[in-house]
Amino acid sequence: MKNLTRRELIDKYLKFFEEKGHKIIPSASLIPENDPTVLFTTAGMHPLVPYLLGTPHPMGKRLVDVQKCMRTSDIDSVGDDTHCTFFEMLGNWSLGDYFKDEAIKWSFEFLTDDKYLGIPLDKLAFSVFEGNENAPRDTYSAEVWKSLGVKEENIYFLSKEHNWWELGSGEGPCGPDTEMFVKVKECNNTNCTPSENCGCMVEIWNDVFMEYLAKDGKYTPLEHKNVDTGLGVERVLMTLNNLTSVYDIEVFKLAREKIEELTNTKYEGNKKEYRIVLDHIRTATFVLGDDIKLTPSNTGRGYVLRRLLRRAIRYIKKVTDKEDILKEVSKVFIEYYKNDYEELGRNSDYILNEIEKETNKFNKTITSGMKMFNKTEQSSNGIIDGEHAFKLFDTFGFPLEFTLELAKEKGLEVDVKGFEEKMKEHQELSRTASKGEFKGGLADTSYESTKYHTLAHIMLAELKKMFGEEVIQKGQNITPERLRFDFPLDHKMTEEEKEELTNRVNDVIEKGIDVIREEMTYDEAKKAGAEGIFTDKYGNIVSVYTIGGVSKEICGGPHVKNTRELGTFKIIKEESSAAGIRRLKVILEDK
Ligand code: ALA
Repeated sequence: MKNLTRRELIDKYLKFFEEKGHKIIPSASLIPENDPTVLFTTAGMHPLVPYLLGTPHPMGKRLVDVQKCMRTSDIDSVGDDTHCTFFEMLGNWSLGDYFKDEAIKWSFEFLTDDKYLGIPLDKLAFSVFEGNENAPRDTYSAEVWKSLGVKEENIYFLSKEHNWWELGSGEGPCGPDTEMFVKVKECNNTNCTPSENCGCMVEIWNDVFMEYLAKDGKYTPLEHKNVDTGLGVERVLMTLNNLTSVYDIEVFKLAREKIEELTNTKYEGNKKEYRIVLDHIRTATFVLGDDIKLTPSNTGRGYVLRRLLRRAIRYIKKVTDKEDILKEVSKVFIEYYKNDYEELGRNSDYILNEIEKETNKFNKTITSGMKMFNKTEQSSNGIIDGEHAFKLFDTFGFPLEFTLELAKEKGLEVDVKGFEEKMKEHQELSRTASKGEFKGGLADTSYESTKYHTLAHIMLAELKKMFGEEVIQKGQNITPERLRFDFPLDHKMTEEEKEELTNRVNDVIEKGIDVIREEMTYDEAKKAGAEGIFTDKYGNIVSVYTIGGVSKEICGGPHVKNTRELGTFKIIKEESSAAGIRRLKVILEDK
């Protein structure tokens, strides 16, 4: 096995697949655009869902990337050897191109060849899908592994729970997968399989064969069969370098040493506390580093961020009374990753400032909150009731999960139902306070949402005609039910203006104009007068969508084929969103 640094691993992987005809694409944002159904990007496939469903990707059919991922569903496991809420995932993609043979052969080569990871074959184990009523047993993949020299006893057929990949919502592109494991220690369990939790095998890579579309509980074969793979950077570094925990890899060691130096304490003896701080601050650094500039709050994504920061604050307090440690830890992560993720450098002041603000805010209430918790504990008969849990949340800023964790440490229960009722009463029931929402769902590619993507292009074009070229899209949010669209304008739209916009947009729709997609370089797109933010997101080649003489925009899609599909356009609301910015809420109705 090779000793590899993160840089070497990433470079080797990208180069390996580049040589096999893949184009390198940059990591997408951790915060999915225009996707109301998921809070954060949980896997490399999220930003690629439209392409898995058949929209041609501007860079072609073979892609390779390293993607920032976040899985807060794992937050309670953080502290053990292998879980992180943020991680980097290497992935190679076939969008309707190669399938099982090549994917497995290349995974095998990269894992075992001395030129790459050089892992001895006897240290590896493999699992494949055992089959169920929706899809057959994947003997094909098992045969491919065997043809490469894998012994039958190292191939395990496992159930859907283990060897099937689909999005949290259970809808969208999906399929069986084959997973690759490194045996990290001798196992006394003679019947050990990768599905046991004995910790002797660590999953490092997953090749998913996305050949079905799941919808309403039904699985239909996709026209294009895709491959989506995910190789966890942290776990590979851990296993390759013979480390016992992901928290021993280079970046965490640097951050660990920083805490040791500043607090005069040791990682050994405070492992759980250190690991939680390291993990949560790394994740918060990446979330705050996004150009969207999220702030901690009590709802949605902001709530997840708040929960991570406040949990880190609580755990650093177990180690030291010293102030400002979290900011210093964040600086280590910014330095380490900023060459690969330039947004961290660009937004470093913002990141550090937000960590400081949240720390100060929470410091004001955490002591009195803890006092109240302790008082409640004494008079509680083993249960923290809804009212107290809500007070801890509302007055003292304790996220519910935080109270649950404190209660668990003391062997108490929390009346979560009662808490939620109180929340409702106060009309601020956070969508995310229920655990399920953290798991992330489907990147919404439903047809209804697609219509709103196209509508946004038409609306922007017509608004420009009415109010001038200065009109740009300041913000946009799409659900299957409506489009919310922000744009600069110095006055409230009059009734006449709203009517004019409605007529203009409906005229375009009724003309039944084809929506044409073309690929070109950025320069060509600029020359052609295409609208768009030139952030170089997909490398040099971009998709440009043209709607007759009405609109030309750089856009990842997807879009409808003809404007007639949109139905009837209606403005529901026009309001101010910020100084000089108007917000339109609009819907489409069937004709
Ligand atoms: N989407 C697959 C995963 O995240 C590759 O494991």
